[in-house]
Amino acid sequence: MNSTLHIPKAEIHVHLEATITPSLCRKFAERNKVKLSADIFGSEYAYQWEDFYDFLKKYDIVTSVIHTPEDYYELTYEYLKECASHKVLYVEAMVSSTHAKAKGMTYQSFLDSIQEASLNAERDFGIVSRYLMNGIRHLGPESVQGTAEEVLKNPHPALVGFGLAGDELHFPPHLFSKTFDMLKEENFPITVHAGEWDGPENIRKAINLLHPTRLGHGVRSIEDLELVKEIIEKDIVLETCPTSNIATKIYENYENHPVKKLHELGAKVTVNSDDPPFFNATIQGEYEAMSNIGFTDDALISMTRNAIEYSFLDEQKKREVLAKLN
Ligand code: ADE
Ligand code: ZN
Repeated sequence: MNSTLHIPKAEIHVHLEATITPSLCRKFAERNKVKLSADIFGSEYAYQWEDFYDFLKKYDIVTSVIHTPEDYYELTYEYLKECASHKVLYVEAMVSSTHAKAKGMTYQSFLDSIQEASLNAERDFGIVSRYLMNGIRHLGPESVQGTAEEVLKNPHPALVGFGLAGDELHFPPHLFSKTFDMLKEENFPITVHAGEWDGPENIRKAINLLHPTRLGHGVRSIEDLELVKEIIEKDIVLETCPTSNIATKIYENYENHPVKKLHELGAKVTVNSDDPPFFNATIQGEYEAMSNIGFTDDALISMTRNAIEYSFLDEQKKREVLAKLN
């Protein structure tokens, strides 16, 4: 057990709001006077939900306890502390200004708190972190456009890129092409969820219409080997989240998950925890599971290298983090 604790790790696909542990959720709920029904808690470590749409619903309920910049500070610092204890060198986490603003925070105040926690965690534990603003598909194209415009008008040192999350099946790529053309025009780094729920046709559309250099999940590309070839030729990195995909029943188990085959075909893969306490996942656990299905230590370290090299960190800091790996 835990034969991978010594492996240096990186995580580039995790939703910051969704890193909230059940104990932190209870603490914030009490502090912010939010009533939670007991059925959201599955165990001391995890939440419970039925299927992906119920997951999205529970996700909103659980994260509705995060009300203040101080909550964001605590959430961020605690997650980074936990990651650092598992030898994680770098975290690039997605955040949602629509969440923060719905709770009355300003764009600036929630990002400033995240930045402060990030700097303090780097000082205290050596872990480096940066953040991606997420547009939420099922809030619609106007919402995603507004989120992106705000990011471009208000550059923040914590923010290094833009992502697209939410309901992939009902909100396909073409709805968001105007927003992502605008981001590309401004050379703003892009990653989008694609190929988690939807298949090759819409993964191709995501690549062609949304200009990502990374794909969130991307694993259903395995259903079309020409597409895998295209992903390799275009040097697009896959942010795979095996435990998440097993929890949501896209794949039955790690052996049947495409991550190993994609790696063997030559795709650049990384492993990530996505929404840790919703899926009983940790970044340490992802590396451990990959070791158990045959990834060698060298292969695991190459995943860490992929994650850092293809992160949206500035070049100087990237070199500093990579130096710790070498
Ligand atoms: N938002 C949070 N987790 C997600 C996931 N696994 N897929 C799409 N959107 C998400
Ligand atoms: Zn995700």
